[in-house]
Amino acid sequence: MTKNESPFETPVHPSVPRRLGTAGPSVFPLGLGCMGMSALYGEADRAESLATLHAALDAGVTLLDTGDFYGMGHNELLINEALRTAPAAARERALTSVKFGALRTVEGGFTGYDGRPEAVRNFLAYSLQRLGRDHIDIYRIARVDPDVPIEETVGAIAEAVEAGHVRHIGLSEVGADTLRRAAAVAPIADLQIEYSLISRGIEEEILPTARELGIGITAYGVLSRGLISGHFTRDRALAPGDFRGMSPRFQGDNLDRNLGLVEALRKVAEGKGVSVAQTAIAWVLSRGADIVPLVGARRRDRLAEALGALDISLSAADLAAIEEAVPVGAAAGDRYPAAQMAHLDSEH
Ligand SMILES: NC(=O)c1ccc[n+]([C@@H]2O[C@H](COP(=O)([O-])OP(=O)(O)OC[C@H]3O[C@@H](n4cnc5c(N)ncnc54)[C@H](OP(=O)(O)O)[C@@H]3O)[C@@H](O)[C@H]2O)c1
Repeated sequence: MTKNESPFETPVHPSVPRRLGTAGPSVFPLGLGCMGMSALYGEADRAESLATLHAALDAGVTLLDTGDFYGMGHNELLINEALRTAPAAARERALTSVKFGALRTVEGGFTGYDGRPEAVRNFLAYSLQRLGRDHIDIYRIARVDPDVPIEETVGAIAEAVEAGHVRHIGLSEVGADTLRRAAAVAPIADLQIEYSLISRGIEEEILPTARELGIGITAYGVLSRGLISGHFTRDRALAPGDFRGMSPRFQGDNLDRNLGLVEALRKVAEGKGVSVAQTAIAWVLSRGADIVPLVGARRRDRLAEALGALDISLSAADLAAIEEAVPVGAAAGDRYPAAQMAHLDSEH
């Protein structure tokens, strides 16, 4: 087995369910990332968000990803409402993946992370209440708390698994050493981490380590927050507080360079009769059956487009053309502003 080869059986079709690691649940091959319905990408339309959640469940999506800090509880309450008003079968199939640990201010700032066991128990109690469920399917700290050994944070989640309040343990944006330390405490279902055609940092060490340990990947930012969706334009006005207004990849010359890559990718997509976003999602799906892309759709039309990626099979020639259009390391700018890069265990 080469170091980047998935140890899991590759499905014949991208829409076959995928298992999140050897310890995790089997899920629909695309998850819905709900963050943008509450925060970070400007105003969202509540009715359209609920309709998008319902459309996703209706299409068979099972994994709903959120964070207790997305809109300070707003996102979990939205998911609660969507599940309460969904058909019983869809509600029962749905799996919640929740991040915790971020400390916020009234003004919306982020002031650090709290991974102490007593904080884990406190965050969990609030999340269960807001979600209206008796358990969370995958629970993870959003960023490692530098003052608390990961063993203690994961140990506290493992106790919640014992108690039946959590089903599986996940991690977010951690590096290979932390993966190993966490996996020595309890089985880890998945690592949630940014992975896309223009964010390939995990390929060198983190992905091979996850595979060695039997840990799945839920990949976020597969469209680089819309940058490589084919819909983002140079003149797009961003609301105050939109993450993209601060992201190095969306600034000045970096944005021009990155949108140039998108145009190269568009040629490949058009040659196959599919959209740019579908090509970018299909590429992540093609990286291994242990990888589940989370798409951040907050409108039904975007969701429908994303789901279309499941019908695309990429040949070796397609993959070569995609990689020629967007070579490894071709993007300009870091994936987070410097202050946020400092919180990424995965980048150290
Ligand atoms: N663990 C972590 O550290 C972490 C960090 C960030 C996110 N996440 C999770 O990952 C999820 C996905 O991340 P993301 O929203 O940043 O990534 P994304 O899927 O790369 O970007 C989503 C944005 O792309 C645009 N877009 C254009 N066409 C689209 C299409 N067909 N389908 C979906 N989106 C399309 C939308 O922007 P417009 O609506 O403005 O057009 C949307 O808000 C989040 O919701 C969150 O649950 C985790």
